Amino acid sequence: MKISAICGSPRREKSRTAQLTRELIAAAEGAEFIDVTRLDIGPCLACDRCHHLGYCVQKDDFNQVFEKMLEADGIVLASPVYIYQVSAQLKMFLDRFANPLHCLRLLGKYGAAVATAGGSGHEETVDYLEQFLQRLGVQCVGKLALTMEDGPVDQESAKAARELGEKLVAAIKEQKEFPGQLQTIETRRAYFRDLMIKRRDRWPWEYRYWREKGWL
Ligand SMILES: Cc1cc2nc3c(=O)[nH]c(=O)nc-3n(C[C@H](O)[C@H](O)[C@H](O)COP(=O)(O)O)c2cc1C
Repeated sequence: MKISAICGSPRREKSRTAQLTRELIAAAEGAEFIDVTRLDIGPCLACDRCHHLGYCVQKDDFNQVFEKMLEADGIVLASPVYIYQVSAQLKMFLDRFANPLHCLRLLGKYGAAVATAGGSGHEETVDYLEQFLQRLGVQCVGKLALTMEDGPVDQESAKAARELGEKLVAAIKEQKEFPGQLQTIETRRAYFRDLMIKRRDRWPWEYRYWREKGWL
């Protein structure tokens, strides 16, 4: 079982988001923790090439992380709240997903989301991460939104993270179905189906991908 846990806090070992994420993946052998803030990942340049080629042409670390996500059974997204949103470092990473999002390229995978805040914004931020995953076709087993005191993560929060990790592992093993989420994913696929037909010339790789999947 492969799980990729992607974290957007720059505070290295002091990061509580990272500590919680590591607890979350403790139950999963073969899980990899990826700190996007240590990688060379810039913003989307809106060149539109990904819609023609199926990959991002920028020569940085984005593609190697995305490849790991494609190979994974489970994906965890984790961020500290920075001004009521995910960190800018994580947002730059997420903005690179235009092509995977149009093509629901993570369909069939399972996910979980984590957000920590000093006082507020954690619920909105974790909801955003959950929706991001669902828009890629991922079923989310749960989310953890916490306000944190200074210092290391407390025992109760660590336990909640471990339990979420166990849920993720169990869902992958059982190939669990969450009917409400599958319905949401289907509604979004219907939206993109119409768009693919309308934009077949502007998004040729994506149109071909949809044809090959038998979704058109
Ligand atoms: C640039 C910046 C912006 C922040 N914005 C918010 C915020 O909008 N709301 C909030 O409750 N906490 C905010 N915080 C506090 C962090 O969300 C909080 O300390 C978080 O747990 C840090 O996670 P980390 O330990 O993983 O780095 C902010 C911190 C920084 C550095």
